[in-house]
Amino acid sequence: MKVVVLTGAGISAESGIPTFRSADGLWEGHRLEDVATPIAFQQNPELVHQFYNARRRHLLQAHILPNAAHIALADYEATHDDDFLLITQNVDNLHFVAGSQNILPMHGQLMEARCTETNKVIPWCEDLTPHTPDPETPSRRGRLRPNVVWFGETPYGMEEIQRAAQNADLFLAVGTSAVVYPAAGIVEQTPSYCRRVEINLDATPQSKVFTETIRGPASIEVPEFLQRLQTEENKQTRSD
Ligand code: OAD
Repeated sequence: MKVVVLTGAGISAESGIPTFRSADGLWEGHRLEDVATPIAFQQNPELVHQFYNARRRHLLQAHILPNAAHIALADYEATHDDDFLLITQNVDNLHFVAGSQNILPMHGQLMEARCTETNKVIPWCEDLTPHTPDPETPSRRGRLRPNVVWFGETPYGMEEIQRAAQNADLFLAVGTSAVVYPAAGIVEQTPSYCRRVEINLDATPQSKVFTETIRGPASIEVPEFLQRLQTEENKQTRSD
């Protein structure tokens, strides 16, 4: 079975990482356009760095840990020979910490920095400023940005994502509001025979495209769904 999972901020909410879209339309007090676009970075790199520095520091706190949903996905991958791809929109590293292997972080990673000139990506866990020296060429300053995909930029791995979606037997979307494209459109690329399952607290604009919708917290619903899947697989094996 070819399994493709897409996760969004909702899977990390119960780990203590706030989701993006709050009722007032602000993202931790900022308008998205002020902190998550290339123009914002050009016009006010200090503010953009401050915003991501705060998020990085938050992520580095000892109590921010993968929850049962991250762990269940990692366990499923480890115990199945399935062709398994975990696409995440999340820039936190919780799927990595949980032990998932085949992860495609389509919106980049907060714990990485990227050189704006060479595009080289390096692991990064410190604050960034407009004056941070590039470790490779310390005399050059201010070339590093968070390795996070901003609005108007192309996400990572789109070809691999398309290929995987087009061949998926099971597509599972967890904790994503399905309003940001291209991520929200991945489900539509899956074949008609694909079982499409959405796990979310609320309905989303894409809910109607799914064959099953499960409403509830990811930390409960993801392990339960994967357990049910396992039971179904066991029954199937016995009847073969
Ligand atoms: P959002 O914040 O837009 O949506 C989070 C979704 O998770 C909502 O539909 C919530 O109902 C749901 N949710 C919240 N808590 C949950 C829980 N405990 N269990 C299950 N579901 C829960 O986050 P994303 O869809 O990930 O892009 O946002 C997509 C992209 O928008 C992000 O990757 C980011 C942002 O702008 C970039 O940075 C490029």
